[in-house]
Amino acid sequence: SAAKIVVVGSCMTDLISYTSRLPKPGETIHGHRFSVGFGGKGANQCIAATRLGATTAMVAMVGDDSFGTNYLQNFRDNGVIISHVGVTSEAATGVAPIAVDDAGENCIIIVAGANLKMTAANVEKAEPLIKESCVVVCQGEITMEATLAALTMARKYNVKTLMNAAPADSSLDPAILKNSDIFCVNESEAEALTEVRVQTVMDAQRAAEVLLTRGCGSVIVTLGGEGALYSTGDGHIHVPAEKVTPVDTTGAGDAFVGTLAYYLAYHPHLSMEDMLQRSCKVATISVQAAGTQTSFPTRNKLDNYLFV
Ligand code: RIB
Ligand code: NA
Repeated sequence: SAAKIVVVGSCMTDLISYTSRLPKPGETIHGHRFSVGFGGKGANQCIAATRLGATTAMVAMVGDDSFGTNYLQNFRDNGVIISHVGVTSEAATGVAPIAVDDAGENCIIIVAGANLKMTAANVEKAEPLIKESCVVVCQGEITMEATLAALTMARKYNVKTLMNAAPADSSLDPAILKNSDIFCVNESEAEALTEVRVQTVMDAQRAAEVLLTRGCGSVIVTLGGEGALYSTGDGHIHVPAEKVTPVDTTGAGDAFVGTLAYYLAYHPHLSMEDMLQRSCKVATISVQAAGTQTSFPTRNKLDNYLFV
C-alpha cells in the first residue's frame, strides 16, 4: 500500500558514549557505556511515525558500506518502504558521534557523508511516492536543493509539508520557509534563524512571528521540557509538557516531529493543540529511555486515548 508519510531526509549511524558530564575542549574524560544505534533526524522521524502505525516511505542516501547495509535492514525490520533509498559509492554512510551526560543532555557531531550526495534529481524520482502521500517531512541534514525539491513537489500535489529546520542553519534558503505548511524548530534553531534570543515562551512567540513573516504557513517552536508553541497569523498556542527526569533526550525532537506527521496523516480532524499535546506526550516517553529510535514507543505500549 502507498505510504501516507514520506520522509525526505537523513540516515546516520549514532555512536553514543554515555559519560557523567560532557567534556570540555582539550579534555579527555571516561565514559561508562557505549552503543551504536540507528539515527539521523530524517530516519528517526520516519521510524517514530511508523511505530505509531503509519505507512511510511523514506527517500534517502546511504553509503556502499556496512553502516549503509545495516541501515537498509533497519528500515526493512521496521516496515519502512525503501524503494527510494539510494546507495552511493561516493561517500560513506552518515555518522553521528554523540555524548550523553547523566542529566540526559547531549552533544552531537554529524558527519553527513552520503546524505549530502542526495540531489534534486534523486528526489524527483520519488514523485510517484510523494504524489500519493498525505504528508512530506524534511529536515536540515541533507542538501538544501534536495529538501527544496521535496517541498515544492509536495506542494504541487497539495501534500502537506512539515519542515523541521534542524540542525540550525542561518543560511537556510528562504524558499524552504515559503514552501513549508508547518515550520518546526527548537529554541536554538529559532534563535539562529531570527537572531531573537529564545529563553521564554514570550521570546519564542517573537521568534515565531519573525518566521511567519518569511512566508511559512505556521510555526512550531519546541521548548524542551516546556512543551511547544504553535503560531499562526491568528495567534499563539502554548502546549506544556509533562515534567519527567530525562535519561537521554537525544532524538526527542524527532519523536515529536514524527508523531506530529502521524497525526496530520491519520487524524487530520484533531485540533493542532491536541496533536501537539499528543506529540509532546510521545517525545516525553522517548526521553525516559536511552538512544534515539530505541526509545520511540510502539502503538501497543501507548494509552488508547492517543489513537482516538
Ligand atoms: O536528533 C537526533 C539525531 O541527530 C541523532 O540520531 C543523530 O544522528 C543526529 O542526526
Ligand atoms: Na531517548
